Amino acid sequence: MGGRPVSAGLLISLEGLDGVGKTTQIERLASWVRDGHGEVKAVREPGGTAFGEALRDLVLHRIEAQSALAEFLVFAAARAELMQTVVLPALSQGAIVLMDRFIDSSVAYQAFGHGLDADTVVAINHIVTQGRKPNLTVWLHGQPFATEDRDRMEQRNPAYFARVAAGYAWLVEQEPERFLVVDSGQNPDIIFDTLRTRIHRLLNRTKRGGEG
Ligand code: TMP
Repeated sequence: MGGRPVSAGLLISLEGLDGVGKTTQIERLASWVRDGHGEVKAVREPGGTAFGEALRDLVLHRIEAQSALAEFLVFAAARAELMQTVVLPALSQGAIVLMDRFIDSSVAYQAFGHGLDADTVVAINHIVTQGRKPNLTVWLHGQPFATEDRDRMEQRNPAYFARVAAGYAWLVEQEPERFLVVDSGQNPDIIFDTLRTRIHRLLNRTKRGGEG
């Protein structure tokens, strides 16, 4: 982070357990940005490109890899395509890119959830993102809401989700300045207000040419 010119855009990711309300907040933030704060690109992971959406369908709905590394490399492949073809070009044009999940999902789910070595995940993430990290990552911290349309990933047991949450907590400890931790049990309007206020501050700082 830090010292990027305005043209480098802003990269903001939302993270959390399945069903904590990330997607709703992304949609609201995207229309708020569009209504007077700049260009916006909202994408989800895995997905956001034709290649990535095909991999999403494969890994979330069709087949479960026995190897945590194999599973991670599929997420990483989707991420590489998304970075190269969508995220980095949008950032270079000064857009605000809102990501529904990003690098931290792999640390939380594949490393903490599945026991893959965290250093390996971080190193491969660094390669596929070409070193670009989010200016801000929101961790919507709390219990997932029950949804009827559960995919394979969402059918895992509570102990698994506890490990994933511990992964997010570990990430916040590593980079506290990058994270905003928000209680996902709050009213969605209050969450939206909190996020909007923080992003507004970030935008003002970036306009002044300061830290991201
Ligand atoms: P969601 O987009 O509905 O949250 O579902 C995506 C699922 O994929 C979710 O269970 C988390 C999982 N996932 C990983 O395990 N690792 C990753 O790197 C990403 C991006 C997602």
